[in-house]
Amino acid sequence: MTLSKHFPADFTWGVATSAFQIEGASAADGKGPSIWDTFCSKPGNIKDHSDGSVACDHYHRYRDDVDLIASLGVDAYRFSMAWSRVQPTGKGAWNQAGFDFYERLLDQLAAKGIKAHLTLYHWDLPQGLQDGGGWMNRDTAHRFADYAQEVARRFGNRIEAIATHNEPWCTANLGYGNAQFAPGVADARQAIQVSHHLLLSHGLAMSAMRAVGASAKLGIVLNQWTADPATPSAADRAMAELEYARSVQWFMDPIFKGRYPELALRAHGANAPQVHDGDFGVICQPIDFLGCNYYFRSWCSAANPPLPAPGKDGFTDMGWEIHPQGLTELLLKLKAEYALPPIYITENGMANPDELIGAEVPDEARIAFVRGHLAALQAAMDQGVDVRGYFLWSLLDNFEWNSGYAKRFGIVHVDYATQQRTLKDSAIWYRDFIASHP
Ligand code: FCB
Repeated sequence: MTLSKHFPADFTWGVATSAFQIEGASAADGKGPSIWDTFCSKPGNIKDHSDGSVACDHYHRYRDDVDLIASLGVDAYRFSMAWSRVQPTGKGAWNQAGFDFYERLLDQLAAKGIKAHLTLYHWDLPQGLQDGGGWMNRDTAHRFADYAQEVARRFGNRIEAIATHNEPWCTANLGYGNAQFAPGVADARQAIQVSHHLLLSHGLAMSAMRAVGASAKLGIVLNQWTADPATPSAADRAMAELEYARSVQWFMDPIFKGRYPELALRAHGANAPQVHDGDFGVICQPIDFLGCNYYFRSWCSAANPPLPAPGKDGFTDMGWEIHPQGLTELLLKLKAEYALPPIYITENGMANPDELIGAEVPDEARIAFVRGHLAALQAAMDQGVDVRGYFLWSLLDNFEWNSGYAKRFGIVHVDYATQQRTLKDSAIWYRDFIASHP
C-alpha cells in the first residue's frame, strides 16, 4: 500500500494522551486517589516499579505542552479527564480546583485553535468507588452518568467531541480478567459482568449528556482488531471467530444491535452477564461517532504451542505485530456488519526503543509504522468507510501502564529526569505531512 497525499480537506489530524499517563500531580489541589495510584503502590504490579505521581508533569506544564501540540500543526488534541480530580471520591461534592485545571487547558487549546476531543474515562476510577465495589457494582454506572453530565454541563459547548469510555475491553479484561491492570482482579466472571456495567454506564452517560444539550459530538472509543486464523484449519477458524465475537462484537453488538453476540454468550456459559430488563434500550442508542483504536491484529492458533504471528512487517517494542493491512480489513468488516456513524481513529502508534542522540531522536521505524497505517486507512476510505480523523498515540512518551516508563510511544521524547521534551523525527515527519495537505 502506498500513501498518497489525498485526505479530505476537513480531515482531522491529531495527537492523543490520557490523564493518568501524563498529568502527574496525583494528589494536588484536592485530587482523590484513583485505582491506578493504588495499583502502582503494590510491589510487582508495574514492571519498572514506577508510578504516575509525576509522569510528564503535564499538570504543571500544560501551557508549554499545548504550545508543543500547536507547533505540530495538528487540528485536534485527544486527552482524558481524571475523574478523581474533579470528584475526589467519585460521588458527592465536585472539586472546583480540578475543573479549573481542565478549564485552563481548554482555554489554552482554544487560544491556539486546537479542537478538544475529551475522553471521560481512560481507566482511572476514583478509589472511593472501587472501595464500594468498583465496576462490579452496578451503581458505579449511575455515578459515571452523573460525572458525565456535570462535565457536559460545564464544558459541553466548548469541546468538539466527548467519548464516554476508552477501550472498555481493557478495563474489563485486563483490569478484572487477568489482573494486569488496575484494580488487579483475575476472575473471568467478574470481567464479563464488568463489561456489561461499562456498556450500561456508556448508555446512561449518553442520555445524561444529551439531556443537558451539549453541542459536543458524543460517542465511545473501542480497541478493535481483526482475528485471523493461523491456518485454514477448522480449529483455527473457529478460534478466530470466537475471539472476534468475544472482543469486537461483544462491545459493538450491544451498542449497534441491542444484544450480545450469540456465539460469545454461549461460550461464556454460566459466566454470562446479569442483564436487567431495559439495559439494551439504554446501551443501544445513536452515537455521533465511533472511536477506533488500532494497534495489531489478533492471531489465532489452536496448536500447542501456538503458531507465532508472522510479523511480516516486524514487531514493536511491546512485541505487538505490525500489520497495517489489518486496519483496512477491520474497517471494511465493521462497515459490512454495522450501521456506522463517522469513525475517528482515536489511537494508533508504536513503542520503539528510542534514544536521544545529541538533539535528535531518529525513529524511522515509527515513521514507517504511521505511513503504513495511513495508507491502510486510505485504502478503507477509498472503499467507502467514513473516517473523519486520525490521532497518533502518543504526543509524549508517558507512563505506559504496567510497563511503566520503559516503553516509549511518544512522537515527542521525554527526559524524565529533566522533563525536557524533544521532537523525535516522527514528530517532524508528522508535522510536515500535515502541512503538505491542502
Ligand atoms: C491503548 C491505551 C493507551 C496506550 C496505548 C499504547 O490500549 O488506550 O492508553 O496505553 O494502548
